[in-house]
Amino acid sequence: MADLELTDDVPPEADDGVWLTCIECGETFAPFDAIRYTCDDCDGLLEVRYADLPTFDEFEGRGVWRYNAALPFEEGVTLPEGDTPLHRVPRLEDDVGVDALRVKHEGMNPTGSFKDRGMTVGVRVAQEVGVDRLACASTGNTSAALAAYGARGGMETLVLLPAGKVAAGKIAQASLHGARILEVDGNFDQCLDIVQDLAARGEAYLLNSLNPFRLEGQKTIGLEIMESFHADHGEYPDRIVLPVGNAGNTAALYKCFRELVKAGAITEDQVPKLTGVQAEGAAPMVEAIEEGAEDTTRWDEVETRATAIRIGNPVNAPKALPGIRATGGTAVAVSDKEITAAQRDLAGEGVGVEPASAASVAGLRKLRREGEVDGSESVVCLTTGHLLKDPDAAAEAGAEPEPVPNDTDAILDIIDDGSSSVGKSVRRQAGKVADSPSLPALVAGGLGLAYLYRKLRSKR
Ligand code: F0G
Repeated sequence: MADLELTDDVPPEADDGVWLTCIECGETFAPFDAIRYTCDDCDGLLEVRYADLPTFDEFEGRGVWRYNAALPFEEGVTLPEGDTPLHRVPRLEDDVGVDALRVKHEGMNPTGSFKDRGMTVGVRVAQEVGVDRLACASTGNTSAALAAYGARGGMETLVLLPAGKVAAGKIAQASLHGARILEVDGNFDQCLDIVQDLAARGEAYLLNSLNPFRLEGQKTIGLEIMESFHADHGEYPDRIVLPVGNAGNTAALYKCFRELVKAGAITEDQVPKLTGVQAEGAAPMVEAIEEGAEDTTRWDEVETRATAIRIGNPVNAPKALPGIRATGGTAVAVSDKEITAAQRDLAGEGVGVEPASAASVAGLRKLRREGEVDGSESVVCLTTGHLLKDPDAAAEAGAEPEPVPNDTDAILDIIDDGSSSVGKSVRRQAGKVADSPSLPALVAGGLGLAYLYRKLRSKR
């Protein structure tokens, strides 16, 4: 069983207070002397550990590297990333019926997803261990981030994608940033199997979230949420709801909170309840939570419109499941229909996200409806990727464009004919301005300025 307790013992392998620990057998390793992704002895997942853990007052600057006191390096290969908005969404908050709801929009990172936080650290580690070819399997966002950060770091990038199952925006990014794109006739989990084989044969440095350094970058999502929610609301959130694919973020957030507790920055009862959301067609984590299992059972057949989380074998489950349980959270599955409805809800607040991201809001709605989430709770929903990542899904969820004649009167007829109350009120306002006595003054003022400007120019 995974042991995620942070101890005070610093092993002799530690390099500048940083080392790797196997969460299954406890074996420790030097962080950068060799390339490894899992334990040499038992193949368990590795976790980055530190001799010193910072409190909030040790952080300065902006973005991911504001938190360098909690990371293995002072700085990384940066674009820069992090420092994403924590949106207020008052109508949605009311509608869902919780005390406070905020949306942490990770789609505002440089390549449009949270993956950038992992890559700024991961590509820095790749430089440290001296590799020149980076690789990942991806449902799309990881490939876009790897391609951009690899390009920035001057390294070759190779991405393996499930053919026909990656949204257009993501392939465009990977392609333009210069990744070699291999489309596999298989699903994401099978792509990851192959990338792990390539990495084991020394052909490429693996930058999926199996790489423990990626999760170090991603834990800064938790640090930002805690800092900004506290600044905005005067306390920490009761719950964080997030979409789950490979369960990297869930694992990273739990690590963030364990480290904050260990450092004495927060108490155990201030740790938010980690609540994972999956699509009904790809929900092995939900199944494991419901069955009280220690690990997930691989789903060979997965399907969802939220292609980013079309994953049947969440590799970080042994780190994430204890996190959901220890924080008092839960996991829930939602339908594609509920995901699309939540995508529209967010868009109605001006927050544009891709389908997988909207799963967090869909899950919160469902848990609230079922009474699992209380109306007195303060909640942060994580939205992981930008609307433009999947333009086809956005167009399907949005309103149809209307073909109209090339003629103002005909267009006026059409918009008056429909329910365009907005159009009418805009024209009423325009009418008011035209009738208003202050208009001549405005025109005179404008003419006066134009006159002055011409005079000044002619003097040059
Ligand atoms: N949301 C989005 C938009 C994602 O792209 C992913 C994962 C997740 C959620 C799930 O996060 O794996 O940490 O549980 N995308 C990966 C990729 C698998 O290849 O881009 P997780």
